[in-house]
Amino acid sequence: MSIPEAAVAAFTEAYGTEPAGLWAAPGRVNLIGEHTDYNDGFVLPFALPQRTVAAAGPSPDGTWSVCSTLAPEPVTFGVTEPGEVTGWGAYVAGVVWALQDAGFEVPPARIALASDVPLGSGLSSSAALESAVLTALIDLGGLDVPLERRPAIAQRAENVYVGAPTGILDQSASIRCQEGQALFLDCRSYQIEQIPFDLAGQGLAILVINSNAPHQHVDGEYGARRKSCEAAAEALGVKALRDVAVADLDRAMDRLGDEVLQRRARHIITENQRVLDTVELLRAGRVRDIGPLLTASHASMRDDFEITVDQVDTAVEAALAAGAYGARMTGGGFGGCVLALIDADRADATATAVADAYAKKNFTAPTSWVATAGPGAGRL
Ligand code: GLA
Repeated sequence: MSIPEAAVAAFTEAYGTEPAGLWAAPGRVNLIGEHTDYNDGFVLPFALPQRTVAAAGPSPDGTWSVCSTLAPEPVTFGVTEPGEVTGWGAYVAGVVWALQDAGFEVPPARIALASDVPLGSGLSSSAALESAVLTALIDLGGLDVPLERRPAIAQRAENVYVGAPTGILDQSASIRCQEGQALFLDCRSYQIEQIPFDLAGQGLAILVINSNAPHQHVDGEYGARRKSCEAAAEALGVKALRDVAVADLDRAMDRLGDEVLQRRARHIITENQRVLDTVELLRAGRVRDIGPLLTASHASMRDDFEITVDQVDTAVEAALAAGAYGARMTGGGFGGCVLALIDADRADATATAVADAYAKKNFTAPTSWVATAGPGAGRL
């Protein structure tokens, strides 16, 4: 059964009627620009073909209900405040709340979800869920919510209702990405530019390698990184680390006596520049040449930001040894996925090389696939 069919089946089973429509929103990989989003910096994600589908229709009694293929028994709620709905239903209640809080009259609705975005793998399954629900509610209610406002509404659901202090990257990717393009986003102004991302035309591919490493300490470590960045910005007298240029790196390091703050800030300052350099190369059609920037980004996450684990470092090293032009962890860190830029005909060989390296270290086997840039959220 396809994902849309599964969503329709879950809807019919739970509510005994047909949905009014189907809406989908994708997971993402971030090509480069990690942890830069909450530093007002730059990111460059593309949408995955894997997506969450929301089958939705009006609710007869003024409440909202949601179920999924994984949780067929609907969670039902009325108007709530953050914290009232807990568990996975909080992501949906959070979207309803954030839309209402932004001044919109949200139509009561019944929703059933199905998804093939791998959960807990750093591919933004939660943003895909939020974005699918948000898009469905906006269309069902005929609400006039411009595309550029939507990511921040979904982000508030996650920040305020669910309580995860994440940036704007994931929801922006899920909502604003376009097929065949990478999304260059300025996380301060929310300005975007669609960057043509033609891999196949150049005989290239992005291999995504799910490390399948158990996520550890993700929430606490994420929050700690965020605090360090804010402390560094304050010590440097800037609004955010985005305001420190690479040309001023040495001076910034001198001013930040503390060694940990130095490392954290150095990652953000250099990572922003790597995003800008990557965009320049892609604009010039020089896709292969972004490889070293990807690998440098990984080294910076490993040594300065300290958010990688042995499994992801091993995947990066094995992919590079197998001939990848560049490789890096993507997403928040502490597990999750690695992406490798490779010749299109090297996908199997690279995946095998990584799997062999994992077997030698007795790691749980990785899962690898070639990712193409899919469309952003919309009605099916
Ligand atoms: C997670 C967060 C994003 C971003 C990335 C790291 O995916 O949800 O906001 O900070 O980590 O780049």
